[in-house]
Amino acid sequence: MLDKFNREINYLRVSITDRCNLRCSYCRPKEGISLQGHEDILRYEEIIRIVSIAVKMGLVKVRVTGGEPLVRRGFVDFLADLKKISGLRDISLTTNGILLEQFAQNIYDAGVSRINISLDSLNKDKYFRITRGGNLDDVLRGIARAEEVGFFPIKINTVAIKGFNDDEAADFVRLAAEKPFQVRFIELMPVGHTNLDYGEDYMPTWQLIEQISRHYELEPVKNKRNKSDGPAKIFKIKGGLGEIGFINPVSDHFCSTCNRMRLTSDGKLRVCLLNEAEIDLKKALRENCSDAELEKLIRDAVLLKPKQHDLICTDNSVKKCYRNMSEIGG
Ligand code: GTP
Ligand code: 5AD
Ligand code: SF4
Repeated sequence: MLDKFNREINYLRVSITDRCNLRCSYCRPKEGISLQGHEDILRYEEIIRIVSIAVKMGLVKVRVTGGEPLVRRGFVDFLADLKKISGLRDISLTTNGILLEQFAQNIYDAGVSRINISLDSLNKDKYFRITRGGNLDDVLRGIARAEEVGFFPIKINTVAIKGFNDDEAADFVRLAAEKPFQVRFIELMPVGHTNLDYGEDYMPTWQLIEQISRHYELEPVKNKRNKSDGPAKIFKIKGGLGEIGFINPVSDHFCSTCNRMRLTSDGKLRVCLLNEAEIDLKKALRENCSDAELEKLIRDAVLLKPKQHDLICTDNSVKKCYRNMSEIGG
């Protein structure tokens, strides 16, 4: 599937639920968000149908996200069903890790061996605060279990928040030095309804490099930043086991190599994380559309994909993106 700018679109991120067992402050407001009802969200068989058609059109990679995908009942069988779609080469999962100790083996047995885990602080109190109630030990046990079970790669996602976890950058790098993980620092994006003060909390991740270089020597990993390898700029840590990465959607966006679309939990095909254009596949499915009609809608969506996001306005202020991150899946 080629878009208008000749980018090959072959990667779909699927949010299977907008629900989550955490309330991260950059993802939701204190008072919570209104959640989608049972009928609003796509049924697993509807997702499988969409993915099967998209695979015939050139899709090769699916990442299952949420909300928190591990809280939706039946997700392991769903992963196993995805795995049966021939032509789908790569299935991965992004989780907050809270339930990972319990489910790691089942996920692996369903055929998913790549996993990304969100972790924004290595300090128990700070983790509790940013997630509004999460227990760091649950995630650490989940990560340890994932390693034991054999997941590879294990990527740790750390959203950089000024004045909150920027002082922990070297600790996160130590984690990647001691374990074969890829720890990625991600720039905060102004997405959804939150209590964040974006101007206060955002920081470009390059500001972390100075602190990191006081403790570690980094070597850029070549050829990683290409169409198939995703948005992170990767570095090896001299003498360490793992790698670190920087995902900079705001200060240095990677739209020119973007290969992704998103399926929201309520069945909209969203062409760019940071652009509101969506095509309603759930409506078409519930009106009994044919496979050919579904294919046409997917093609229409690909052609809607913008050249790049337009978060940054000409006066350097930052626009907000209104859909909640948990519905889009990051
Ligand atoms: P792989 O490359 O398959 O490992 O996945 P990933 O790193 O893209 O997935 P993950 O779910 O771990 O996302 C990491 C961070 O990158 C999250 O904060 C996402 O919101 C962000 N991200 C992923 N894809 C895009 C994208 O296309 N555009 C933007 N702006 N951000 C993205
Ligand atoms: N900005 C940047 N990353 C975010 N994530 C969730 N919300 C935001 C945001 N506003 C990250 C999560 C998860 C990934 C899917 O997206 O930490 O690791
Ligand atoms: Fe792709 Fe949009 Fe992200 Fe740019 S902002 S990389 S176009 S999803």
